[in-house]
This record gives sequence, C-alpha cells and structure tokens, in this order.
Amino acid sequence: MVKNRKMLLEEYLETKKNLVDRALEEYFPERDGFSSEISESMRYSLFAGGKRIRPVLCVASAEAVGGREDAVLPIACAIEMIHTYSLIHDDLPLMDDDDYRRGKPSNHKVFGEGVAVLAGDALLTEAFSLLSGKTTGISPEKSLSIIHEISTAAGFQGMIGGQVADLRAEGKEVGMEEVNYIHINKTQALITVSIRAGAIAAGAGKDDLNALSEYGRKTGLAFQIADDILDIESSREILGKNTGSDEDSKKATYPALIGIEESKKRTRKLVEDALSDINRFDEKALPLRMIARFIAERKS
Ligand code: IPE
Ligand code: IPE
Ligand code: MG
Ligand code: MG
Ligand code: MG
Repeated sequence: MVKNRKMLLEEYLETKKNLVDRALEEYFPERDGFSSEISESMRYSLFAGGKRIRPVLCVASAEAVGGREDAVLPIACAIEMIHTYSLIHDDLPLMDDDDYRRGKPSNHKVFGEGVAVLAGDALLTEAFSLLSGKTTGISPEKSLSIIHEISTAAGFQGMIGGQVADLRAEGKEVGMEEVNYIHINKTQALITVSIRAGAIAAGAGKDDLNALSEYGRKTGLAFQIADDILDIESSREILGKNTGSDEDSKKATYPALIGIEESKKRTRKLVEDALSDINRFDEKALPLRMIARFIAERKS
C-alpha cells in the first residue's frame, strides 16, 4: 500500500515522540526519598502527553542535513524540558491562570503553586545540566555555541521577553508590531533554536543553517498563530487545555487583531514561504516539509 502524507507524518511523529519519551524517561526516572515530590511534579508535566514538536523539529533538522538522531537527542530533550517549564509557569494564577494542560489538571492544581514554580525552575536548570553533560560526540565548541543559542532564546531576549510583553498587553489595544514582538519572542524563538541546534550539532554548513533558520522563523510564528486560532475554534477535549481563555483574558493575538480568516491566511502563507526556504534540501527534509504543513493544518 502506498502511504499517503498523513500516514507518513503520523508515523514519523509517533516514532520520534517515542524516542524522545524514552530518552526523557532515562534522564528522569522516578525517585524515592526527599526528592520524590519535586521529581513527581516534574515528571507529571513532562509525561502528561505533549506533542513534542520542538524536539521532533530538532531531530528532523539534524536529519535534513545528514545527521543522526541519537547525536541530537539530549539537545532535543533539553529543549522539551525548557518548553515544559514554560508551560507550567504560563499556567500559574499570576500568569495565564489556566487549570488544565496536556489533558490533565495543571501542575499547580496538583502540587500547589510553590512546587509548580520550583518544578519549572528545576526543569530549566536540568536542561542546561543535560546540555553540558551529555554531548554524545559533539565538539565542546559546538556544544558551547548550542548552549549559548538556547539560553539566549529562552531568556529575556527571547521567550521570557515575549511572556512579559504578553502579560503587559493583556486588556490593551495593541498593534501588529507588538503582537509580532510577543509571538516572535514567546514562541518563535524556541522553535527556531530547536531547528538551529539540531542542524549545528549535525554539522550543517552556513547556507543550510541560514535556510533552516528562515524555515524556523516562519513555522515558529505560524505555530503561535495556529495556537491562537485553536483557542477559539477547538475544544478542551481535543486540545487538552481550556479554550476561550485568550478572549477571557483579552490577550494580544492575531485573531483578535485581524480576525480568524485573515489569521488562517497568514498562517498558510508563512508555511508556504517556509517550504520555499528549504527547497534546496533533498528528500531527507521530507519530515520538515510535512511538519510545516501540519503546523498550519493541525487540529490540536
Ligand atoms: C503550547 O505549545 C504553547 C505555545 C507556545 C503555543 P504546544 O502546542 O507545543 O504544547 P504541547 O507541548 O503539545 O503541550
Ligand atoms: C505560551 O503562549 C507561550 C509560552 C508558554 C512560552 P500561550 O499562553 O498562548 O500558550 P497556551 O495556549 O497556554 O498553551
Ligand atoms: Mg501565555
Ligand atoms: Mg497560556
Ligand atoms: Mg495559547
């Protein structure tokens, strides 16, 4: 039977997701004794069932330039840990105040706000311990530059900067420039670095790396616009998180600013442009092409 694009994508996502899950399980086994509570809280969110899109992009990007998945797995997992920390903190009452995440009550609803903050802190710091401790054949220079890029993307000039701007824009009339600033920083930065880190680890040349970075920027922005659309059009059952919360909190989103149809158009255009950016690659970039389309069409 000839496999269609949907089957190929589902198979690819499933295989890589399992790979990432197995590696994370190895890095974070259950613990007894005094560290059992924090470990349980970290594992609760880490294994709650995320899509693993960032680590999968990291692996797919490495593969697109001829690299091997096992060499980039610690990097992919570290990025997923940073992402998971950002979700735990994003849901806290003093941020988006969301009670439901990845199909389960949010971390702070189960472990309390104090432990949820600390579980996020621990996931962030452990990510850098993993990045600096398990380099699986990558040169120290390359590792250092990957660590530098990831920390910048996650920090105040990246994800944290975007999260602050997101909070400050709540309830205000903001323009396109500000919404773009929010999306580029809170979401695009970590997605782009996932792709760049995978490619750098795999030894990508300058032109390939530039093309992949452009692909990352466009898919990263498209990913957040799609998230904003799903907050309006999807349901808690499908998404695993509450919907309608952006409107309730008067968040600065694409649909709020330009409407849902125009937002969908922009998402599709970004994905088309991202696909053109990686025209230069051969069939090893097929997963990246499938994931870009998935980002525009995804239902969850
Ligand atoms: C949600 O990210 C937060 C955004 C940056 C839009 P994901 O949609 O990747 O969430 P999980 O990891 O699948 O739960
Ligand atoms: C979250 O954006 C971005 C980060 C966690 C950095 P949202 O607040 O829109 O994400 P969801 O919708 O809660 O997953
Ligand atoms: Mg938020
Ligand atoms: Mg949120
Ligand atoms: Mg959202």
